[in-house]
Amino acid sequence: MSIAFTREPAWDPRLFPPASRAPRPVQTARMLMDPQGYARSLRRRLGPVFSLRTFPYRGALVCAADAATNRAVLTDHERFTGGDATALLAPAVGSGSLICTPPPRHLTHRRLLLPPFHGTRIAGWTQRVRDLVRRELSDLVTGEAVPVRPWAQRLTLDVILNVVFGLTDPVRTAAFRRALNAFVGMDNLAVLFLPEPLRRDLGPLSPGGRFHRLRAAVRDLTRREIADRRARPSGPGGDDVLSTLLEERDEHGAALGDTQILDELTGLVLAGYETTATTIAWTLHLLAHHPAARDDLMDDLDAGSDRVLKAAVKESGRLRPAVYNAMRTAARDTELGGRPVPRHAFVAALFPLTHLDPALWPEPDAFRPGRHLEAAAPPYTLTPFGGGLRRCIGVSLAQLEIEIVLTEILAAAVPEPAGPEERARLLSVTLVPARGGRVRFRRR
Ligand code: HEM
Repeated sequence: MSIAFTREPAWDPRLFPPASRAPRPVQTARMLMDPQGYARSLRRRLGPVFSLRTFPYRGALVCAADAATNRAVLTDHERFTGGDATALLAPAVGSGSLICTPPPRHLTHRRLLLPPFHGTRIAGWTQRVRDLVRRELSDLVTGEAVPVRPWAQRLTLDVILNVVFGLTDPVRTAAFRRALNAFVGMDNLAVLFLPEPLRRDLGPLSPGGRFHRLRAAVRDLTRREIADRRARPSGPGGDDVLSTLLEERDEHGAALGDTQILDELTGLVLAGYETTATTIAWTLHLLAHHPAARDDLMDDLDAGSDRVLKAAVKESGRLRPAVYNAMRTAARDTELGGRPVPRHAFVAALFPLTHLDPALWPEPDAFRPGRHLEAAAPPYTLTPFGGGLRRCIGVSLAQLEIEIVLTEILAAAVPEPAGPEERARLLSVTLVPARGGRVRFRRR
């Protein structure tokens, strides 16, 4: 398993923004245990641009933590390049996926994928998503404490398998669910963040070996799905992403190869289901712990409006952005916020820090959806879906799912706390509630 770290510059305090003196294993452990608290303490001590010396980096991850530097990292594509940085994820998703594609190929590649994710096409999925939510609702509204994230993961995975693969067969859906859950499980993807020698496939019992086996299971299922669809006598057909990709032709009229499609689908599934499930879990958990905000939202929904709903989802994405950061690499020796950044260094827009900057968000730790009704957020102060040319392609699908889930649940039940409010933990690049986002749903 090789990762494109070879060009990354080694640590040199003169070439990088300031860093904590704590040893790399200590910084890594603190980030994993308390990603928001630790990063905030570094930002307070070191300023809005600092270096984080964690595994798996040889040098450091340069972190941007205010609106100006967030904007620069996300939109200054000349200086900060996408694609190379996400090579970190390539062993999981495949190097041919959009997420791992550097410019200039990125733009043509993205154009190819955009049509099925367009808002108008996505709106066509409303009823199917609603049916899936209704089918799963009884597992949630039990009157008992339920961790929402695993529940939401089942749901969002079913939606993705439907929208991306056009899969409706329950046996195949169950097989994908099993394989993907094992593959993206807590201890498996953590392999990507280990030092290089530990990431290698050293036999079936090694973390690298296990990673390969689980990855192969997902790819085998995907490969079978592509082959079946190609073999259908009536041709691909359908309005799902796989059908679109099978019909796609490049500028020379050639169809896309299986490996390309395989990487693309794996990338979309991995990018799309955990992130959406985590946002659903955080939003319901926060609403349970903030009854005044919850009651406002329920009153507004009962009155037939979705204004407060949209505001609540924004506020949840501000306080607990499901994706911790967006990654780029420095295209040349440059600067960020007046600090040096060496060529090929990894650079991250650290959303939780910009989103909790007290200069941008008064009382940053308070869950107050109402703040989004007062005025639109200034640019690059709220970016849970990233920004610039690489902004999340699945934003319309994610928003549709989240809004339908919340509307259906809140029509049926009142979310209430099931224990103390949970802290955030880092699971690869996802900021997850430490105990799954536990909530008790009282039937209305
Ligand atoms: C609440 C749910 C989601 C969140 C918070 C989220 C967040 C993000 C973020 C932060 C990025 C990086 C943007 C950047 O580099 O500037 C991203 C990229 C991406 N997301 Fe999402 N995402 C979500 C759902 C989805 C869904 C449902 C899909 C598709 C099924 C998806 C597919 C992608 C893809 C393909 C990219 C790479 C785009 C590119 O490099 O051009 N995401 N997402």
